[in-house]
Amino acid sequence: MRYEVVITCALDGRYNRAPIGVHFRGRDVNLHLYQGSHTYEILEREDYFVVNVVSPYLIAQSVYDDSGNYSTIEYRGITLPYLSEAYRIYVVKVSKRKFVDLRDGYGDTKLMGIQGRILLERDISNPPLRPYSRADGLIVEMAVLYSRLGVARGKKREEMIRKMREYFEIIEKVGDKRYIQLGERFLEGVNEK
Ligand SMILES: Cc1cc2nc3c(=O)[nH]c(=O)nc-3n(C[C@H](O)[C@H](O)[C@H](O)COP(=O)(O)O)c2cc1C
Repeated sequence: MRYEVVITCALDGRYNRAPIGVHFRGRDVNLHLYQGSHTYEILEREDYFVVNVVSPYLIAQSVYDDSGNYSTIEYRGITLPYLSEAYRIYVVKVSKRKFVDLRDGYGDTKLMGIQGRILLERDISNPPLRPYSRADGLIVEMAVLYSRLGVARGKKREEMIRKMREYFEIIEKVGDKRYIQLGERFLEGVNEK
């Protein structure tokens, strides 16, 4: 199963957050990063990062910018940022990197496969016990499309924007103000991507 989490890491004291898909295999965490993101740039050089298990809303919000609420955790003299609203965190050390040239529907790009070892895990807060809302799934799907718009062209890009609008129409019906405002920000940001 692939799980969507938020990866937090730091470079020269600057904190970064990004939603990323990960696979857990025992004490290992595997992920793939597309070239072009700050997370790629940082983890090409830095060996430590934090996997944050968070709400769907925070997954979606984390794609928009890096200005989250951060706390820090120390591991053997290394200070790492994590999201203060996380339910659980894993401190991970990179054990392997693999670079692959990729040609897909978005064009030519480089992919960095990372295998990491979990060094520490910590429960931060209890997840709220609340029913499922369709707004949770849809805001994350809007975030995925938003994050790929920068590399999409032509018909593919038009189709992605159409889907974002479709998801937003449902969010307007089933979501609360926070979800609607975040959806609006994604749609407003379409032209800047
Ligand atoms: C749910 C979700 C999952 C994502 N998974 C990945 C992933 O596995 N690998 C990747 O490179 N980007 C993934 N992205 C896109 C990055 O989060 C996005 O490029 C982000 O803007 C990078 O932020 P940064 O530049 O601060 O690192 C995902 C986005 C979302 C919304």
